[in-house]
Amino acid sequence: MAAHISLLQDSLAQIAADIDHEFDALLTLPGDARDRLYAAMRHAAIGGGKRLRPLLVTATAALFHVDRAVALRVGTAVEAIHVYSLVHDDLPCMDDDDMRRGKPTVHRAFDDATAVLAGDSLHALAFEILASPQTHGDPFVRGELVSTLALASGPEGMAGGQMMDIEAEKSVVDLQTVMRLQALKTGALIAASVEMGAILGHIPTEGRTHLRGYARDIGLAFQIADDIMDVEGDPELAGKALQKDAAANKGTFVSLMGLERAKQQADMLVQQANDHLSTYGAEADLLRAIA
Ligand code: IPE
Ligand code: IPE
Ligand code: MG
Ligand code: MG
Ligand code: MG
Repeated sequence: MAAHISLLQDSLAQIAADIDHEFDALLTLPGDARDRLYAAMRHAAIGGGKRLRPLLVTATAALFHVDRAVALRVGTAVEAIHVYSLVHDDLPCMDDDDMRRGKPTVHRAFDDATAVLAGDSLHALAFEILASPQTHGDPFVRGELVSTLALASGPEGMAGGQMMDIEAEKSVVDLQTVMRLQALKTGALIAASVEMGAILGHIPTEGRTHLRGYARDIGLAFQIADDIMDVEGDPELAGKALQKDAAANKGTFVSLMGLERAKQQADMLVQQANDHLSTYGAEADLLRAIA
């Protein structure tokens, strides 16, 4: 257990440095009227965040001995989508938040229009990275990466989940609805991160079943943890405002099950996630530690 924790801490520190470096190299100010847009993208993308999704890409890819530089590019793409989703999620027309990752949100540090454009541009950047031969030499692999991330980002994934999340504020929702909403809102990008690691490893669809089970379970556990943190977390540590879900009348795991059962459910999901890894040996220890 202690070994798992230090493995996780080291890996988180490494991925944070690597992803900052990737974004820094990708987002050079052009020295014209677009500087403000690039500065907003840098504000959102560099310095902060757990980098969970890139870590899932690199940890899964490492199972199959994929070159780390390649996995990092793909991790940067999924993080770009995630960061864009946060920039838009924080806008006044959505959650109207002032703090993100311990810093002012992009629309606060800049303005609403710049935040919309920075989100749009990070979204485009993700697919520019995946479509680039610099990321992967095999066009079939590039195509599968692009379609996997596109599916997980759009109406069948994150954006669809965000819509359901907004709709759910208007009515009383049941647990099944919340599970579906979270699977799209949060689960889809987490699942895509693991999936893209497997794609880089040339694992055929039928060989991905265990990894998909793992990703589904940690995705759900992750959102339950976010909901628990919203109720009893420390905003200083979270780097964002908390206690917003109840105020917005949001149907969450905690509002539906209560804190204790939500925690039990998260623990159960983590155990179940790790059970999916039982066919792997020590090479999957980082995935276990992430769970
Ligand atoms: C926050 O995601 C939004 C959710 C999907 C719950 P993270 O908790 O991964 O945020 P960062 O990337 O660490 O800031
Ligand atoms: C947002 O969920 C998830 C996204 C797809 C951006 P939340 O609104 O719960 O995320 P936080 O709590 O603001 O990070
Ligand atoms: Mg939201
Ligand atoms: Mg929010
Ligand atoms: Mg939340």
